[in-house]
Amino acid sequence: MSSCKISPSLLSADFSKLGQEVEALTKAGADYLHLDVMDGHFVPNITFGPGLIKAIRSYSPLPFDVHLMIAPVDAHLEAFCEAGANIVTVHPEATIHLQRTLAQIRKLGAKAGVALNPSTPTDFLPWIVEDLDLILVMSVNPGFGGQAFLPSQIKKIEAIKKLIGHLPIELQVDGGIQPETAKLVRAAGADVLVAGTAVFKSKDYAGNIAALR
Ligand code: DX5
Ligand code: ZN
Repeated sequence: MSSCKISPSLLSADFSKLGQEVEALTKAGADYLHLDVMDGHFVPNITFGPGLIKAIRSYSPLPFDVHLMIAPVDAHLEAFCEAGANIVTVHPEATIHLQRTLAQIRKLGAKAGVALNPSTPTDFLPWIVEDLDLILVMSVNPGFGGQAFLPSQIKKIEAIKKLIGHLPIELQVDGGIQPETAKLVRAAGADVLVAGTAVFKSKDYAGNIAALR
């Protein structure tokens, strides 16, 4: 098995010094930086918007992996791309015309991702694979860090891996990823692991990222 990418979630970082946290994660060997945008409507928590993403953009050359948990999402795509997002992932429940939303993200110069909540079915995926660069399987209900991994999502990861086949689409998993659950999702086919709690559990970010890999 080739090595996987790690996308640390800034949700668990020290918000009073995000620039330094971004620099530290970059030095520690992160592949992407995962930015969880929450609106208090689509999910029961509020985090930050494009202004903050723009403010930390110059602290790292790594791809900014922006996970939008906001609805409706379309009106905000441009602001996040302008702020420096390289990957923009949306939930299908946050847009009426998902294909149009994904095409718009690419038109704005970013890679397009779709995120599936634990209860979201996969049946729509075959009809939009050509518009996708990334599929994100949520292994917790989105909204908070530190929740327990849902083993029910392993079968979903396996099914999506099969659907992806040789297409150039990354399979990302987000929620409750620790060294033990990382093994399970890797075996099921995940390429990119998002982790907040596990990366920030101690100051040894490099060691924590290596433990996940
Ligand atoms: C949850 C977010 C996750 C979260 C993961 O809604 O999408 O990215 O930060 O946190 P952990 O790794 O603590 O489950
Ligand atoms: Zn996330």
